[in-house]
Amino acid sequence: MSDAPEITPEAVASAVDEALAAIAAAATTAELKSARSAHTGEQSSLAQLNAQMRNVAPEHKASFGKLVGQARGQVNQALAARESELAEAETAAQLEAERIDVTALPQRARVGARHPISLLQEQVSDIFVGMGWEIAEGPELEHEWFNFDALNFDVDHPARQMQDTFFVDPVARHLVLRTHTSPVQVRSMLERDLPIYVLCPGRVYRTDEFDATHLPVFTQFEGLVIDKNITMAHLKGTLDHAARVLFGPEAKTRFRANFFPFTEPSAELDLWHPTFKGGARWIEWGGCGMVNPNVLRAAGIDPEEYSGFAFGMGIERTLMFRSDVQDMRDMAEGDVRFSEQFGMVV
Ligand code: PHE
Repeated sequence: MSDAPEITPEAVASAVDEALAAIAAAATTAELKSARSAHTGEQSSLAQLNAQMRNVAPEHKASFGKLVGQARGQVNQALAARESELAEAETAAQLEAERIDVTALPQRARVGARHPISLLQEQVSDIFVGMGWEIAEGPELEHEWFNFDALNFDVDHPARQMQDTFFVDPVARHLVLRTHTSPVQVRSMLERDLPIYVLCPGRVYRTDEFDATHLPVFTQFEGLVIDKNITMAHLKGTLDHAARVLFGPEAKTRFRANFFPFTEPSAELDLWHPTFKGGARWIEWGGCGMVNPNVLRAAGIDPEEYSGFAFGMGIERTLMFRSDVQDMRDMAEGDVRFSEQFGMVV
């Protein structure tokens, strides 16, 4: 074994120094693993020095054995220390990399809320569909003839004036933003077969202020029935039923004589609201009446054979006193925090 290293304190010290330098330089547990096999493995200087023990003269065995044993102990200790240091650092790095901030706001898209006007409109529609009626719709940009003339409005009726109605340019085309859903009455009578039982919900426009109790754009529902032998009792019974569904079993309606060009007789409709926030009371709810024979004639229906009733209410107003909303503008501003309060049911 001529090329075998000789056991000298220098040879041992330099093998230890090399090993310690490699251990200190290892930056990962993988690098440390290769340092371990290079400096303590079978091919390592220390292992080879140790292998030389058998060639050492018996009287020197103890001291050289101690020298090599201490050297190996020192290297193994350094390995163990560096190993736990690296393991700790790697665990810390992994925890940092996989860190979850449990207080962070979720990135999920926020679920909106359905608008209470849409919900109430659907609920009102359900009441009438439940009685076998159909839902009828018409255009919001309406011909003046459907909005006024066919409904028996005089040419000089005040509602036609500029301050109530949005006329659309050019005026010669006679188009208006419908001021009520009543033109759908006329369209229904012209388009549908008799008898007619329709509910017409939809948006209407008036040149009103934008304040706590008025909106220039709002929503109405109008009901129309044309059949044989229809009387005001049918109208009253229908409205009482709708009132009870919307306002509870003690709700009822009452009529006060009024005038509308398209109904005769006509009535202002009051609602007995048994659970009104400030205590049970009568509240003005809408208008109604028996369809004027002139309106039937304009739609080609013989008033001697058929009669009918119609009624119309505002949905914003209904929501206001049904759900105790103080300011109508909240319904127009589209703030989801307002809509969210109603959940999925109004
Ligand atoms: N169209 C009327 C309005 O908007 C309401 C109404 C409808 C009255 C049907 C009577 C019959 O004021």
